[in-house]
Amino acid sequence: MNLILAITGASGVIYGKKLLEVLNEKNIQTNLIISSAAKKIMKFEIDDSIEELKKKSTENYGPDELDAPISSGSVPTDGMVIAPCSMKTLSSISNGISDNLITRAADVTLKEGRKLVLVPRETPLNYIHLKNMINLSQAGVIILPATPAFYHSPKSTDDLVKFVVGKILEQFGIEHNLYQSWEKVEEKNGF
Ligand SMILES: Cc1cc2nc3c(=O)[nH]c(=O)nc-3n(C[C@H](O)[C@H](O)[C@H](O)COP(=O)(O)O)c2cc1C
Repeated sequence: MNLILAITGASGVIYGKKLLEVLNEKNIQTNLIISSAAKKIMKFEIDDSIEELKKKSTENYGPDELDAPISSGSVPTDGMVIAPCSMKTLSSISNGISDNLITRAADVTLKEGRKLVLVPRETPLNYIHLKNMINLSQAGVIILPATPAFYHSPKSTDDLVKFVVGKILEQFGIEHNLYQSWEKVEEKNGF
């Protein structure tokens, strides 16, 4: 399996980092793109350097590398995830503005009929955000908000992050044990 993973400038870059680590552990090929805004936010939110993250990807590209292989539909991939996805990037994709490698690769993913999963992180959502999400959903994009559940009794930030990452993996049929399903929680608690 070969996925494109973009990390954009929303709070929650840890979701992209964790997803990259899990994909790396599972020997799934990744094409990593980190936006300029995401690079700034990483300094506040995670300890890892950009170079450390890049080492966990198979290929990595800068957001301005519009001539990268993944800019073309002729290069096969199994889909793309943007985690976290800023409202700016979400809006660009919704409106067909392919002005950097992230939005271009998303446009290509859609035109080739491949799976595109966006993990938006913003609150509250305004009318424009919601309209863009409806537009994307109608185009076949999976909107998977960064909203962890609490029914599995998370004990740490890592548990919360793993829930969302698990949900992303499920979109691509990738098996994991990052959180306990409701069925298992029910069994354990005897509901
Ligand atoms: C500390 C910080 C946190 C931010 N958090 C969010 C956020 O959670 N969601 C969002 O949509 N934008 C957020 N932004 C704004 C985006 O970074 C900004 O719109 C940027 O242009 C996004 O660019 P990109 O999509 O190319 O990464 C944040 C900015 C900063 C500096």
